[in-house]
Amino acid sequence: MRRVRNRCTSRFRCSCIVSCSLIGFIFFAIKFNSKQTQPSVCVPKNPDNEVIDRQDEWQYKNSVTGQWYHWRTLYIEQKNQAEWRVNWLNVAPESYLGVIVYLAVYSEIQSLKISLAQLSRLLSNNPRPVVIFHEGDFSDNDIQQSLAQTLGIRTPLAFEQIKFSNNSFRTKPVHRRFPPKYFHMCRFFTLMLPSHPLLTLFSFYWRLDTHSYIFGRKPIEDPFDIMQNRKIQYAFTMVNVDDELHAYGLWSIFHEFLKDHCLEPSTAFRITQTGWFDSYSLAIIFTNFAIANVSLFRDHSLIRAWLHKVDLNGGIYRHRWGDAPIHTLILTQLIPRTQVARFRYFGYMHRNEYVCATGINGRFCKAQTKPLFTGPETSYYYHPAGCNPHDGNPLCHYYPEITL
Ligand SMILES: *[C@@H]1O[C@H](CO)[C@@H](O)[C@H](O)[C@H]1NC(C)=O
Ligand SMILES: *[C@@H]1O[C@H](CO)[C@@H](O)[C@H](O)[C@H]1NC(C)=O
Repeated sequence: MRRVRNRCTSRFRCSCIVSCSLIGFIFFAIKFNSKQTQPSVCVPKNPDNEVIDRQDEWQYKNSVTGQWYHWRTLYIEQKNQAEWRVNWLNVAPESYLGVIVYLAVYSEIQSLKISLAQLSRLLSNNPRPVVIFHEGDFSDNDIQQSLAQTLGIRTPLAFEQIKFSNNSFRTKPVHRRFPPKYFHMCRFFTLMLPSHPLLTLFSFYWRLDTHSYIFGRKPIEDPFDIMQNRKIQYAFTMVNVDDELHAYGLWSIFHEFLKDHCLEPSTAFRITQTGWFDSYSLAIIFTNFAIANVSLFRDHSLIRAWLHKVDLNGGIYRHRWGDAPIHTLILTQLIPRTQVARFRYFGYMHRNEYVCATGINGRFCKAQTKPLFTGPETSYYYHPAGCNPHDGNPLCHYYPEITL
């Protein structure tokens, strides 16, 4: 009996050792395997490594010395750097808090004059400097003086000549109906403007188009003061949706960018930029009116990396990617909701689309816009909330609205 029991115990011991090692082996095998299949820890790319400090083929000219310089897309603040000199018409700026900028061609001088007159009227309590970037169209002294007169003697005005170049290496556009200058404009506002030396003089820039008109019944509170006092980094007035054709491929390179930098889509990005089944909502800030901290698109390393990635891709020229979707994607991803605002305390019209200030409805809105309906053949579209489409644009009321 004892021997039997003994044999049994030893057999039991053996099988126990065997099964224990088997279990142990399986356990380790699973553990080892799972370690292999588990996603490895994400190592973000250094955003600065993606930025190429090349001498761009674009150029700008100093309005005092007449000297031409090659643009650089990487701005580096240098000690003892000579201040950019500007030939101010009317009067020199009293404050360098903000500058209003246009990129204009001579054929649009009529609408530019309306735009300037509206600015001058609405900012009459606190005139702000205006700078017109151009490719030589506004070099003539008489033209410059006439625009200075439109603004009035209290508003500083300057002209900055720039030169786009015929870059033969650039990708050929898919959409033939746009003139070559249109693509340059997209690139100018996407990443070139903030690295122009004029911008180093100012804290904020306010971009308008020649056919951008602000309007209201009386002078408005200064937008730059509001930006500064409320610590806003970026402000706009209208939102829209982009044409799918002009955003071709942008969604996937943005996701590539997120992956490269180990970023999860932010809440604002998911709510405003993501549509059904993770598709692109195409909702855009209508960036033809935009006020931004100059530093935002120039010094923020991740934003800079994104803009350079976009530029190198060539999609601006190939598909006519606009600065609107390019900026909207990155702003929603990286800038806190409280630092972005929609200005709704005055009216704004861009070409044939307009919005009145919050609370100005019906005939009051009509009375304000009537003088601006200058195209007899044009149909004008009123967006009561400043959003197109009115229902279902996820950007519409997402950011805080300033109505005063
Ligand atoms: C670009 O090309 C156009 C027409 O081909 C020409 O008139 C213009 O001078 C060129 N500009 C530069 C900067 O080479
Ligand atoms: C603009 O942004 C920079 C960098 O984030 C910040 O240091 C600066 O204070 C901002 N300027 C204003 C006027 O808010």
